[in-house]
Amino acid sequence: MTDWNERYLKGETPWEKGNPAPPLLELLEKVDSKIWGGGVVLVPGCGTGHDVRALAKRGLEALGLDLAEEAFRRAHAHPNVGGESYEVGDFLDAEWRKGKHFSAIWEHTCFCAIDPARREDYAKACAELIIPSGCLVGVFFLTPYDLDEEWTGPPFPSEVEELDSVFSPWFEREMAWVPEAAYPGREGREWLAVYRRK
Ligand SMILES: C[S@@+](CC[C@H](N)C(=O)[O-])C[C@H]1O[C@@H](n2cnc3c(N)ncnc32)[C@H](O)[C@@H]1O
Repeated sequence: MTDWNERYLKGETPWEKGNPAPPLLELLEKVDSKIWGGGVVLVPGCGTGHDVRALAKRGLEALGLDLAEEAFRRAHAHPNVGGESYEVGDFLDAEWRKGKHFSAIWEHTCFCAIDPARREDYAKACAELIIPSGCLVGVFFLTPYDLDEEWTGPPFPSEVEELDSVFSPWFEREMAWVPEAAYPGREGREWLAVYRRK
């Protein structure tokens, strides 16, 4: 099992790009801000918080959550840009979720970091946390890199059919596309989807 805090402490963080996810910036430009609802947007597995701050810069209130204390420390050390905050916690922990509700969730590289055996738990956590008619907005990792047979992940890729199936008990897919904007090396390998809570 991945020790995420250790990965940050050792600097073994190839996902850390120093800026927000390009598909998120594309989405913020192209799609009506109504998809975020009027409340707090949760960013699970936010790492050092680039996406949280991109949302906050657009005037949204955003909460970044991460398991790794070192990621939290680095996120928290950034000067505030708006209505953002951070917490250490486990998205899959029912205790952490108790009594919490969000108008939307932004997913980026948390789903693919979690053991595929726990994908239903991830979807249930989203369903529990997002208010009715709120959105799960996510960029999902579809195509594996040139992984050799020994590869055990993370990241764990997924397929559109699987994503629709895992979220369908609680969500309806409203829109989806392959983002034009991507970090170098991720072009065409991601899929952006907006699922609305039933
Ligand atoms: C691949 S990293 C991506 C970080 C960030 N989204 C980025 O792109 O820079 C996955 C992140 O998810 C966090 N994580 C993994 N499982 C988690 C869980 N169950 N709850 C909260 N955070 C989790 C890890 O600590 C790590 O920071």
